[in-house]
Amino acid sequence: MPGMPSEPGQDQPAGPAAPGRSRAGQVAVITGGSAGLGLAIAAALAQAGTTVVLASRSAGRCAAAAEQLSARTGATVHGLACDVTSERAVADLTDRVLADHGRLDVLVTSAGIQARGTLGRLALADLRACLEVDVVGTWLACRAAVAPMRAAGYGAS
Ligand SMILES: NC(=O)c1ccc[n+]([C@@H]2O[C@H](COP(=O)([O-])OP(=O)(O)OC[C@H]3O[C@@H](n4cnc5c(N)ncnc54)[C@H](OP(=O)(O)O)[C@@H]3O)[C@@H](O)[C@H]2O)c1
Repeated sequence: MPGMPSEPGQDQPAGPAAPGRSRAGQVAVITGGSAGLGLAIAAALAQAGTTVVLASRSAGRCAAAAEQLSARTGATVHGLACDVTSERAVADLTDRVLADHGRLDVLVTSAGIQARGTLGRLALADLRACLEVDVVGTWLACRAAVAPMRAAGYGAS
């Protein structure tokens, strides 16, 4: 199926969860989850029984990918629009996930764009756009997720 990471039955479940925790029943947010690596990781998590929220700029692409992944794995998969360069949008995404599911166990930051070109040809605006998504967007998503994760006992105190 175009845009999907593998054929039905070929999904491999994600690796082991943290000691004492099962992936089944966990909730994962995947930024950049509508395509590519993010969608492939989402498939592995869904196969392992995790509830998955796919997030990217396009609500339509996320919704379509979520519907296909849910049908293929039987897992609960939702799609939500979120531009990771927007502090407000990232905060809203986290709030929505906590309101809908009451927990956030896994964050995968796969939202990204590329800035291709030689030193002399790459436009500064393209480099900055890439840094904004890949670096700032990743930082914003991690910052939003860390509070509920720590409250749930993840990570160091
Ligand atoms: N594929 C590889 O072999 C490879 C290797 C090394 C590193 N990487 C890096 O890993 C990341 C993902 O790669 P990929 O191959 O999976 O890319 P991809 O197929 O182009 O997917 C990128 C994802 O990011 C989303 N996205 C882009 N800008 C966004 C934004 N501002 N906010 C939220 N979501 C956004 C896209 O959806 P929307 O367009 O709907 O927003 C899409 O879901 C990229 O940074 C890439 O450079 C990839």
